[in-house]
Amino acid sequence: MLIFAHRGASKAAPENTLQAMQYALQMGAHGIEIDVIQAAGQCWVIHDAWVQRTTNGQGRLDQMTEAQIRQLDAGNGQQVPTLFDVMALVGNRCLLNIELKGITDLAHFLKHLDSACETLNIGCQQLLLSSFDHPLLAKLAHLRPELTIGALTASCPLHYAAFAQELNAASVHTDIAFTNPEFVQDAKARGLKVYVYTVDEVQDMQRLKSWGVDGIFTNVPDRALAWLQQA
Ligand code: G3P
Ligand code: CA
Repeated sequence: MLIFAHRGASKAAPENTLQAMQYALQMGAHGIEIDVIQAAGQCWVIHDAWVQRTTNGQGRLDQMTEAQIRQLDAGNGQQVPTLFDVMALVGNRCLLNIELKGITDLAHFLKHLDSACETLNIGCQQLLLSSFDHPLLAKLAHLRPELTIGALTASCPLHYAAFAQELNAASVHTDIAFTNPEFVQDAKARGLKVYVYTVDEVQDMQRLKSWGVDGIFTNVPDRALAWLQQA
């Protein structure tokens, strides 16, 4: 079972910061999940379109200048990192799941991604691109079939695995509240990996493992890895 640090090790450090990525790497997470939003000509690693929940600022990210975004404190004196910053830190040390949260210009995003991969010598097999935005995933699969795609769903209906297969996804990413053994079986029979979010309790980890789930997103990768070692 793969352990993805959700927004980095986000219990130990402020979510989606370089500190949270550093902790996740130190803990030995198999992968790190981050959220990416485009604004001011950059790709920022942040979950919300509005900055007040996770930073000391106010307002919409896409109404701010690059200088204003760089001045934000995302907790513990951490800046809001760019996608490049995170890729530079993570490198090839573990998988990087980039959740496309606010991608308004796909070509621009891909230019950034390609340039980061080239500069940092990161292979596309290290990356997993996911989104709730299914038309965006379909465009991505068409433009860049070599990239690994994960289809995100909040409700996990039974027909979702068939839909994800049509999108050429390699994995389905499902909410723990709706994931059930029937769905997991169907997805796996279609050759899809099943990754479940957000799983912080050991009892849930055990149950999902017994259903054959391939990976989890957790805010506490240290707890999950310790459990996995003795499971
Ligand atoms: O990628 C899994 C999970 O992070 C999706 O939900 O809201 O935490 O981005 P959210
Ligand atoms: Ca996410």
